[in-house]
Amino acid sequence: MIKVALPKGRIADKTLQIFETFIGEPLHFEDRKLILIKDKFQFMLVRNQDVPIYVERGAADIGVVGLDVLEEQQNSLVRLLDLEFGKCKIAVGSPNHYKMDFSNPNLKIATKMINITKRFFAQKAMSVEIIKLYGSIELAPLVGMADAIVDLVETGDTMRQNNLKIDEIIMEISAYLVANPNSFYMQKLEILEIQNHFKTQIKSKRS
Ligand code: PRP
Repeated sequence: MIKVALPKGRIADKTLQIFETFIGEPLHFEDRKLILIKDKFQFMLVRNQDVPIYVERGAADIGVVGLDVLEEQQNSLVRLLDLEFGKCKIAVGSPNHYKMDFSNPNLKIATKMINITKRFFAQKAMSVEIIKLYGSIELAPLVGMADAIVDLVETGDTMRQNNLKIDEIIMEISAYLVANPNSFYMQKLEILEIQNHFKTQIKSKRS
């Protein structure tokens, strides 16, 4: 049995479509069920940010999760493959009228990704004040609580509609297939077979 942790939502749907072509059967979670067993697989639906912990603790052998979450949490997982979907960016943003000054040591930055933010500003040798939020990050500079934000940008609509601009892109994000190191060792052939199937599917979508 291979246990697979999937982040609820679009990424889970896309991943299940690829598993359908692998197993050769439709895969649908019933109503509010969180576990789906099919063939030799047990799929489970978890919060995006919780995927690494399920995989790290071996509750799941493999999982799919955004690079933003991997970079933020830095768990010891095997990164098997960039799935090339779920694409977005992590960016520094600030109000349109605000002149972003990366040499200002007193910047207040609102974000839900405190580790990525700390590392980014540390690389610039800046000690900024980080304000941890859980969502609606774009609001913080609009009400004067922060000078700037570090957040995910997908279409850019949220920033645009709230009169914010991108000052710098920190990294490009997509979903990754990851494995528990021990599971990867114990079930190497099965996991490599899955990885190969995903590789082929992604390649055919690219061309
Ligand atoms: C994410 C992100 C931005 C928005 C970006 O928020 O934090 O707010 O999506 O998308 P866009 O560039 O297409 O507008 P999410 O919807 O996950 O909600 P949250 O604010 O509660 O984190």
